[in-house]
Amino acid sequence: AANEKGNHAHFMQKEIFEQPIVVAQTLQSYLRPLEEQVALPDMAFDLAGFDRISIVACGTSSYVAMIGKYWIEQFARVPVEVDVASEFRYRDPVLTENQLALFISQSGETADTLAALKHCKRAGVKTAGIINVPTSSMAREVDLLLSTHAGPEIGVASTKAFTCQLAVMAAFATNLARAKGKLSPEEEREIVRHLSEAPEAMNAALGHDEDIAGMAGTIAEARDVLYLGRGIDYPMALEGALKLKEISYIHAEGYASGEMKHGPIALIDDAVPLIVIAPSGPLFEKTVSNMQEAQARGAKVVLISDAEGIGRAGQGTIATIEMPKVHPLIAPLVYAIPVQLLAYHVAVAKGTDVDQPRNLAKSVTVE
Ligand code: G6P
Repeated sequence: AANEKGNHAHFMQKEIFEQPIVVAQTLQSYLRPLEEQVALPDMAFDLAGFDRISIVACGTSSYVAMIGKYWIEQFARVPVEVDVASEFRYRDPVLTENQLALFISQSGETADTLAALKHCKRAGVKTAGIINVPTSSMAREVDLLLSTHAGPEIGVASTKAFTCQLAVMAAFATNLARAKGKLSPEEEREIVRHLSEAPEAMNAALGHDEDIAGMAGTIAEARDVLYLGRGIDYPMALEGALKLKEISYIHAEGYASGEMKHGPIALIDDAVPLIVIAPSGPLFEKTVSNMQEAQARGAKVVLISDAEGIGRAGQGTIATIEMPKVHPLIAPLVYAIPVQLLAYHVAVAKGTDVDQPRNLAKSVTVE
């Protein structure tokens, strides 16, 4: 049952390991494998009518928003703006009729996100929500509910809700791209195929649990940790840093790899581990050259990549974590797992309260 840990030491660990199953469940309601299409629930408006998308969320959900921006702009060529919910209303955003406002929330109750949703509704903007709790306030308010089927998430630090949100975001981006006439049936078929492969690849990623536990002791000694990524791996770097600081209380920052030289490289020495998230692909060489600049300054690097990437750039690192080779579309779903496991095992090594970290709440219902 969702409220029992079974043979896991913590809810967070149980929820990390549930991800292949709950992502498969979530995908089931958005993929039509026979038609080789992606499907959204029936809606009272036509997605083709939107020329702008705003995505609003907090915390881990806001990194799904950032990844969604990359996907939506790439596939559907519709411009996307992303806001953390606590900033959205206060910048007096330009709201227009041709805009869809998309809210992402595990709980559906986060006060800032709910307030931003109500603000958009008052202005007559159409709203959609990627939400895990179907009975929540946000689920009741949105015009279009895109449910995640992660089941109850008990650990305060979000894990399985994050990957289920990514699965729904990929389905949404694909649907919008088709509505906008930017996707051929062949391209859509490919996307459906790649998404269907995600749960198995996530299982393979979970197979590295023990290696990751083995390197956690080294990271647990650090005072600061940097995470680097480029493209959709940049929000993953932000998520990695957030997970680590939430549950292990180690100061961590995520950076776009190319920004290293504009500041964070000044922090680098052999006491600051650098976690590099870099699947092989078009952005790989650039990320690796940023990584090597840091290595030349003594950085202890943990490289998370596939066999090809590790073969090309694994030398001189303190550790590598080998992910299966996957299509860039599903890479965030797969790379989320080592990032979560690393934070988890570092927190266990430090002896913190993994499921109930100090000062944090599962659902923040005050603005
Ligand atoms: C809290 C939780 C985070 C979560 C954030 C947003 O800070 O500790 O894990 O990402 O709220 O929550 P939501 O329910 O809106 O996704």
